[in-house]
Amino acid sequence: MNVEEGKRIEALRRVPLFSSLPPDQIALLARYTVTRQYQKGVMALAEGAEADSLYALLAGSVKVTKSDEEGEEVILSILKPGDFFGEMAVIDEHPRSANIVTLEPCEMVVVEKNEFMKCLAGNFDLTVLIMRGLVKRLREADKRIESLALVNVYGRVAQMLVEVSEPVGTLRMVNKKLTRQDIARMVGASREMVSRVLHDLAEGDYIRMDGRRIILRDKLITYANELGRARSS
Ligand code: CMP
Repeated sequence: MNVEEGKRIEALRRVPLFSSLPPDQIALLARYTVTRQYQKGVMALAEGAEADSLYALLAGSVKVTKSDEEGEEVILSILKPGDFFGEMAVIDEHPRSANIVTLEPCEMVVVEKNEFMKCLAGNFDLTVLIMRGLVKRLREADKRIESLALVNVYGRVAQMLVEVSEPVGTLRMVNKKLTRQDIARMVGASREMVSRVLHDLAEGDYIRMDGRRIILRDKLITYANELGRARSS
């Protein structure tokens, strides 16, 4: 094995989707894998394009978007290191269902479609992980539909902040490079409305703004969780 192959195997092992593969399978797949670096703001996949690969994120974050001819955009999801994408068009052989745009500099592993499908056919564990990934997306999409139909903008912003936040020490924080416009495109509201909601949430001590970072107070997490509970009870 040469150094390049070793690096590609290492890259695949860092992705939870592939980490359960036996060593011989990972080594085989690595022959059909490349790693790629992307700058911020680059469209890595375009809706409607033909698919030839599956991707996994090693570093950075991306947004999954759909847009119309006027450039209006809706953000379906934000993906983080360890997440995979591009599996839908690889599996159903339809065009890419959405755009993938980098929110910051990213590193990705790119696995050739046919080799991935062969690997999937021979590995039940991998098949289950892909199914779990798809089910997770369906659950999240169901939640979004429910939230758009039944929750007001304050609640939608609160739920979205909790969803994309990460623990940092004892705090929960939204560290991602999200603009007000990005938040608006995730919750289906105008940028002005989102600015007003964030201002009010900060005034009410539900959140604290720290430059581009948003620190979530327990009060906000309780509020968002209660919205979810009220609707499911
Ligand atoms: P594919 O259709 O090949 O290319 C676009 C990718 O975006 C798609 O595969 C999925 O990996 C990803 N994607 C599409 N819709 C969603 C969603 N609602 N949530 C998260 N990821 C998605």
